[in-house]
Amino acid sequence: LAGDEVLVVSNREPYSHARTPRGIEVQRPASGLVTAVEPVMRACSGTWVAHGSGSADRETVDASDRVPVPPSNPAYTLRRVWLTKEEEAGYYYGFANEGLWPLCHIAHVRPVFRSSDWEKYELVNQRFADAVIREARTDDPVVLVQDYHFALLPRMVRDVLPKATIITFWHIPWPNPESFGICPWREEILEGLLGSTILGFHTQFHCKNFLETVDRYLETRIEYETSTISYGGKLTQVEHYPISIAWREPQPEDPSVAECRDAIRREHGLPDNHLLAIGVDRLDYTKGILERFQAVERMLEMHPSLVGKFTMIQIAAPTRSSLDEYQNFEARVRALVQRVNTRFSSGNYQPIILKAEHHDAEQVNRYYRAADVCVVTSLHDGMNLVAKEFIAARDDDRGVLVLSQFTGAARELHEALVVNPYHIEQSAEALYRAVTMPEIEQCERMRSMRALVKDFNIYRWAGRMLLDAARVRQRERILA
Ligand code: G6P
Repeated sequence: LAGDEVLVVSNREPYSHARTPRGIEVQRPASGLVTAVEPVMRACSGTWVAHGSGSADRETVDASDRVPVPPSNPAYTLRRVWLTKEEEAGYYYGFANEGLWPLCHIAHVRPVFRSSDWEKYELVNQRFADAVIREARTDDPVVLVQDYHFALLPRMVRDVLPKATIITFWHIPWPNPESFGICPWREEILEGLLGSTILGFHTQFHCKNFLETVDRYLETRIEYETSTISYGGKLTQVEHYPISIAWREPQPEDPSVAECRDAIRREHGLPDNHLLAIGVDRLDYTKGILERFQAVERMLEMHPSLVGKFTMIQIAAPTRSSLDEYQNFEARVRALVQRVNTRFSSGNYQPIILKAEHHDAEQVNRYYRAADVCVVTSLHDGMNLVAKEFIAARDDDRGVLVLSQFTGAARELHEALVVNPYHIEQSAEALYRAVTMPEIEQCERMRSMRALVKDFNIYRWAGRMLLDAARVRQRERILA
């Protein structure tokens, strides 16, 4: 693809500008998608089209709504698209996050589908498609469409730029046909996605669910052997590409694991070598945070010797907080923390420390390095990059990962302690096993997982997708 034009489109922008009492500041969002795609964009330059959502975003773009990023060391262009309050309410909060998000995660939160949200979803998809088309300098760009916010956009771009290579990556799970079938606009969504040249999911299981959903609801030809769908005379290749992170070797200026261990314990008033588990999530009901705290409670009940010796620090970035479901969830999380803490506290000791605020990547990395255990208990998750970030942070080969079986990551990280987060006793036992695991076993497991994450890193994810795209382009050129 050397020399080809690359455009990315996602809802969340990689950098936002915020007005603060200290002036305009650059902020990075808590988004697995952004964490993963950003290093790829840095490597291949091009243009990233995204929703301008920061309070000072408008003041920092040029007359064409563009800003070079990263602000400190520009490598590509961010093109911001502005949405009205109503568009954001219908498209982002409504259809994407009250409809598609619970629909695809099956986390037992009932999806809400309103016709008015759907109208905005269509309209905003068209707005972004128009922006992509306007940004394109050639008639055959490579367009990388990100996530469930843009199910209709691939077809919209395809209609105007038939020679474009459109790679759509769905970062969240794809459910089975019965579950997906309750969406009143299921055919439109499937037709929109089939505007893609390549449609990617994290796991083979999600690809299979997608093929079966198309089979159930559209008149198409599906080749299960080659995982291709032929619709309206155009082929879509459905493939799994497990996403990952940029592997970074430790730098001399990085604080050592020993320094992080001491500093984090000191900052939280915990004695040296106090047992520490860490959780890092957006405050989202799909992440299994309630189940995780229940597992902590159960572990302390089953192993009272750990009371006073074990603490779970939960970093929980606020997210989508204007939605009722998220406000209720946060209230339930806070109530549970209080109940468990009241039950087991003595003096200054509290078994759970909830830090419900945004932390930047560097701060999170210190916690990863300080912890004995990292706990990921998502009820359903496309991949989950926290698991991989924790592994990448542990160049001392220590630390244990407790990982939900319902994450894409569990299909790759077999040396984690894999749990069903709905099974509280099982998670409690796994947590106990994690905090009492001999160093030699930690080391064996961690080394093996580190080798895998280092090898299957984010460049490999993007590389495989772009290579598949290059093959399709080559074939199309020859046959044209
Ligand atoms: C998930 C989604 C991303 C999204 C991120 C953060 O990882 O797959 O598309 O950016 O959550 O959510 P937000 O709504 O804040 O962008």
